[in-house]
Amino acid sequence: MAALGSTLGYAQTTIPLETRSTALVLQADDKKNLRIVYYGEKLADAGSYAQVPQAYRQTDDYSGVLASAYTPAGSRNLAEPAITVVHADGNTSLDLRYITHTRQEVTPQVALYTVTLQDPVYPFTVKLFYKVYSQEDVIEQWSEISHQEKGPVVLNKFASANLHLKAPEFWLTQYHGDWAKEMQPETSRITHGIKTLDSKLGTRANLFQPSVFMVSPGKPATEDEGTVLYGAMEWSGNFRIDLELDYQDNLRIVAGMNNFASAYTLKPKETFATPAFVFLLSHHGKGEASRKLHTWARNYKLLDGHGTRLTLLNNWEATYFDFNEQKLFGLLKDTKRLGVDLFLLDDGWFANKYPRNGDTAGLGDWEVNRTKLPNGVSSLVKEAANNDVKFGIWIEPEMVNPKSELYEKHPDWVIRQPAREEHYFRNQLVLDLSNPAVQQFVFQVVDKLFTENPSLAYIKWDCNAVVYNAYSAHLRNQSHLYIEYVRGLYNVLAKIRQKYPKVPMMLCSGGGGRVDYAALQYFTEFWPSDNTDPLERIFMQWEYSYFYPALATSNHVTAWGKQPLKFKVDVAMMGKLGFDIVVDELEAQELAFCQQALRHYNDVKQVIWQGDQYRLADPRQGSFASLVYVDPARATGVMFNYLVNNRYGEGTPYPVKLKGLDPAARYTVREINLLPGTSSPLRSDAVYSGDFLMKVGINPQLSTSRTSVVLQLSKVTP
Ligand code: DGJ
Repeated sequence: MAALGSTLGYAQTTIPLETRSTALVLQADDKKNLRIVYYGEKLADAGSYAQVPQAYRQTDDYSGVLASAYTPAGSRNLAEPAITVVHADGNTSLDLRYITHTRQEVTPQVALYTVTLQDPVYPFTVKLFYKVYSQEDVIEQWSEISHQEKGPVVLNKFASANLHLKAPEFWLTQYHGDWAKEMQPETSRITHGIKTLDSKLGTRANLFQPSVFMVSPGKPATEDEGTVLYGAMEWSGNFRIDLELDYQDNLRIVAGMNNFASAYTLKPKETFATPAFVFLLSHHGKGEASRKLHTWARNYKLLDGHGTRLTLLNNWEATYFDFNEQKLFGLLKDTKRLGVDLFLLDDGWFANKYPRNGDTAGLGDWEVNRTKLPNGVSSLVKEAANNDVKFGIWIEPEMVNPKSELYEKHPDWVIRQPAREEHYFRNQLVLDLSNPAVQQFVFQVVDKLFTENPSLAYIKWDCNAVVYNAYSAHLRNQSHLYIEYVRGLYNVLAKIRQKYPKVPMMLCSGGGGRVDYAALQYFTEFWPSDNTDPLERIFMQWEYSYFYPALATSNHVTAWGKQPLKFKVDVAMMGKLGFDIVVDELEAQELAFCQQALRHYNDVKQVIWQGDQYRLADPRQGSFASLVYVDPARATGVMFNYLVNNRYGEGTPYPVKLKGLDPAARYTVREINLLPGTSSPLRSDAVYSGDFLMKVGINPQLSTSRTSVVLQLSKVTP
């Protein structure tokens, strides 16, 4: 069968996108079809990438576009496309040929490649952008779609990225979840056909499935061995990632915003920019991949990625909606007593006509509740200062309860079907952020808080409802709503950050319903889950840690879980530590323990936040979890160990081998976070070489009566 492009022809242009250790290689053939010919380890000689295609003896690529770098539909494509369109004249065909490419040096470590593709028949252009972060081996890819046709073009699919990988088999690790059950992993071999990871929830896009995933070509990568690709959408709304194992046994990955109910009408000369898909390849297992991603996140994405974070006391579980000024004044004293930096006032401080005394009313009415707080928020901020602690506040500005003045005044600002029964998620509806007036309203909620309280030091930004009843009174084109909502949200966040560049903000979504690297450009941290049971958290934080650094992960000690307080504190320390407990109810010894743990945390937090994380013992594979954070100079480290199985005799019969240390250096290993009056069975005067600790290991001596152990490693200076 002589299909168009069934042989590769003579390569005309090869574009190697090289990082420190990897190369993604695009190649335009003599017919200007742009394909991916390689994604793997960087070759010593960039000239040899052009020889890669000849090394394969697979069945024919009949269409000539199976390995397309951005698969168009409607001409000869036979696989899942990256883009589908209806031209101004109603024609549904699209072909895209390579025109040109440029390389722009953003910094010595970061390059931006732009590849321009053009339809030979229609004035229709797609620009592919690849931002290549050399040191971290990370690539961000997105596209810009534009045309100069005589009328609007409808985009029915509009991916950000299209990858093509070759290997004998592929293994996928994906995640699913629900409220309080976030980040449940599943690993399976990818079979022929299409596996789609997606979300159609609009706002809490990650509630059932986040966009983060791993693909291992060949066999599942382990912590330190094997090749693994990490991928994730930088988009806080509906996403869609198609993983198609094609008839040639190659894996095509097409990732972008979800086109579900989102056909986009693009006027001539307008540009449709897709969000970035971020990916990286490691040839030394999942551990190296996550360390690269963490470094990239801290260097380039996460807001204030090299800055500090505040420890805090939150009142959500301590009071729920039941508080008044006196009670909060008491909690401010407790904040100081406990020794954290900040008090965070949660839900329930606002609304008067329909007071926010539960989750059924008041959302949207951001005036302080005069019964609970007759002297306003400013009186709390002042009292916080009197106690020498900072003050932060909870908001959920994208949402509205139908029982609210906002809903009564502006029903047209609400996403709701005008002629249908309203469906609620947590008794609330979503405001229509596609509407600039609503964007301004949301901005003002935040701006007013800061203007009235210039020393306000922290915001917790919640988002508890999904988009039901998708309809916007503002938009003419309803199928733009899901996309314009997220763009509207980013407009607001960008405006907030322009005025308040670094105030710490926590990204929360009824637990971990919203976290991705687009949102994290505006937030300093995220809330992984409302499930703070420390046993559950060990597993959940473990999975989150593949994709997000500890610096961004807010962990609170709460009443959830039956474990001892020490266990809870030890688990919450693996990230950004906070408390949501009734300090008053702590025994004197417990309070003393927390105070001391906070002092220890202040000693080691820099290593946890900025160090390299090494996973040592996987709780899913044994009876305990172990991991260590090591600072880049390999001079200090903190090792966390937890028993996750309480059966008789469980513990650590063998030492746990450390990683990431300097083999030639010598380290002391000191147990910290001991309960008052207890001592460590580990010798505090022993000195071990890095070589010993990495080849033999150290035994944290976990047992059913010693279920969590934190060890501080310090290099001995000769
Ligand atoms: C959901 C969040 O996840 C909780 O931490 C708390 O802030 C509540 N919302 C408040 O309504």
